[in-house]
Amino acid sequence: MKNSQVIDSIRQAVDIVQIINEVVPLKKSGSNFFGVCPFHNEKSASLSVSGTKQLFHCFGCKVGGDVFKFLQLFHRWDFPQTLEELAKRSGIKLESYNADPTWEEGFQILDLASTIFEEALHSKEGQLFRYYLESRKIPEKIWKDFRLGAHLGHHRFFAEILEKKGFHMDIAVRLGLLGRSSNGEFVDRFQGRLMFPILDEKGRTRGFGGRTLGSDQPKYINSPKTAHFDKSRLFYGTHLASKDIPRKGYTVLVEGYLDVISLHEFGVSNALGSMGTSLTMEQIRILKRMSARVISLYDADRAGLAATEKNLGNFLREGLESKVVVLPNAKDPDAFLHDETMSVDERKNLLRKSFESSVSALDYLIKNTVLSESNAQVRGQRLRGLVSILDHVPDEIERAVLKKDLAKRFELPESMLFSKTSPEKDLPRFAPNLAPAPTITGDTDRWEREILRFLVKWGEKGDFALTGLISYLSSTSKWTSLLLRLTELQLESKAIAHLQWLTDVDVEVQSTIREWAMEEKIEEKSDFAAMDFGTLWADLQKGLRRSYFQKENERIQRDLVAAEEQSDIDRVRGLLSEKQDLLKMFKSVSESHVSANAEN
Ligand code: UTP
Ligand code: MN
Repeated sequence: MKNSQVIDSIRQAVDIVQIINEVVPLKKSGSNFFGVCPFHNEKSASLSVSGTKQLFHCFGCKVGGDVFKFLQLFHRWDFPQTLEELAKRSGIKLESYNADPTWEEGFQILDLASTIFEEALHSKEGQLFRYYLESRKIPEKIWKDFRLGAHLGHHRFFAEILEKKGFHMDIAVRLGLLGRSSNGEFVDRFQGRLMFPILDEKGRTRGFGGRTLGSDQPKYINSPKTAHFDKSRLFYGTHLASKDIPRKGYTVLVEGYLDVISLHEFGVSNALGSMGTSLTMEQIRILKRMSARVISLYDADRAGLAATEKNLGNFLREGLESKVVVLPNAKDPDAFLHDETMSVDERKNLLRKSFESSVSALDYLIKNTVLSESNAQVRGQRLRGLVSILDHVPDEIERAVLKKDLAKRFELPESMLFSKTSPEKDLPRFAPNLAPAPTITGDTDRWEREILRFLVKWGEKGDFALTGLISYLSSTSKWTSLLLRLTELQLESKAIAHLQWLTDVDVEVQSTIREWAMEEKIEEKSDFAAMDFGTLWADLQKGLRRSYFQKENERIQRDLVAAEEQSDIDRVRGLLSEKQDLLKMFKSVSESHVSANAEN
């Protein structure tokens, strides 16, 4: 049996409703179950669970997935552990499940790299790197806490060690530790760099950031995205902060490796580094699970300010309480903490004071995005932007309080700032009367989206084959790759539900798909009871084809104008015949479509 089959059979043998109900009380409403979402702060019940689809989805914070995903998020188990627990419950034996053999070896290689780089830092040849750390005023004890290391520069330094120890070199290549030179030789990817291993909460090395000692670019080389290292779900400093955050009840969020390290040195051990600028939604959810509060302490440069603004908006939307600390005249926390124009005590005092005078996300945004703007019109736009963020705050009470605050700050009646209906309440609806494809840019892949939406919601109601549509799908649409995978599933006669279980697609796309899947019942209850799926499907196909021809036609037209301007006669001729073919194809497709319809 293949692994995916083992997983499928376990998924089928357990009941997601029952499993979630053990930890979150669920109530039935229609054909779905509802409960209070454990992944964000809320009083209403936005978590919906479908027994028929074996899915959960929160309409508030958009998190969702299958039973595996739920348990991983809820208990913070990793996949192997979840698999084991569910196998136990379902009575299915895991003997036929083959854990990825490269997973464990990957960790061994990563850990070996950390050890080797650490040893190198402390070796005789590592002196330059030690000088550097000393010049940055980082005490030696801290080097050990973060397992700092050095790659001394020899281009096969690590490759040779791995070879000697008999590891699979291709795994190290996949992990981004090795590359191949033009003559096929394995060479180190990080060369002559100060090494920052990125450790997870269990202290396992996931990947590396390597800093140059000089001023050459890039400043840091990081491990590429792999199963072991996914920057969008990891933080720097987790191995230490995950112990301190529950004690302190909040997280201090900074940008850089050195900011985490310096804060740690000054006793702020609940600091996490986002390893770049703005956070991904995945990272925000991880933060939310660690603690309900975040203190944002980003660099005071333009990128840092922009990222702060973006993060705060997302924190509000996700119901994560956040505050902002602004450090006096400092580029970043590390620069502030090592500013030798002040004594250590002065710095400590000032740090404490800055934390005490942290401002709420709302206050920060009012001051820095709205009030700071001198142009009245832009100010109005910014204010409306803020209003729309507050409209999405998941918790009803919190939303009301924040809105009151905002209205008060601007001395405006609340009714003027906020419409009565929250946009969240109006779930997106599938419109059965489809208008012709709009030509406005930005919604050019509307048909791809609507087709996918139709199949996710009603795919099981009939035989809606995609194979005939493949050539009309837009290659630039984010929905196309999913439609292609759906086509594969159809060819293998697999259920569409598989699409909702895919984990390697963008999280926002995943969330949208689940939302469509969960909406179904709501609409069936109301005015869609007697829907004619065949007609709808025919309309969608027609729409996609028409939009394809329209787009192709526009492209040819554009090229024609250009070719004529350049008096490129051959090209003009070619384009004209291309246009002829397109028209012929359009005609024949339209006719066959009409006759196919007439037969039904
Ligand atoms: P910074 O440029 O602020 O670096 O980038 P830093 O960590 O404060 O380092 P120093 O103090 O200048 O030596 C913040 C973070 O952005 C990521 C790293 O995670 C870095 O810590 N970054 C930055 C990169 O991944 N690559 C880069 O080239 C630059
Ligand atoms: Mn920095």
